[in-house]
Amino acid sequence: MSAEVRIAALDDLADGEARRFDLEGRRIAVVRLGDDVYAIGDRCSHADVSLSDGDVDADECTLECPQHGSAFDLQTGAALTLPAVRPVPAYTVVVRDGDVLLTLDDPADEAPGGGAA
Ligand code: FES
Repeated sequence: MSAEVRIAALDDLADGEARRFDLEGRRIAVVRLGDDVYAIGDRCSHADVSLSDGDVDADECTLECPQHGSAFDLQTGAALTLPAVRPVPAYTVVVRDGDVLLTLDDPADEAPGGGAA
């Protein structure tokens, strides 16, 4: 089951910057790159640090943790560089009629895998 949630107008998001949203108990880092928008879990998988405070690398399509510098793939949530090794959730985002719509279909802001209860 999934639910599409309008989180902002595209024009409300600064290009090349991350912004944190708190939705249904989840912390989500949302990044706009041009006309594309990405959303991954905001909590670094290495420690409880807000990834939306980090720097966006538009060329690599990554978000860097501000604490120790791990880079997270904005499309998959994968941790690409140490010290983080576990991914963060990646969310589906679409832009429709100028609205940014995010699908909350990940069961929890935790490590993926396994059957959901
Ligand atoms: S807290 Fe993010 S890499 Fe250490």
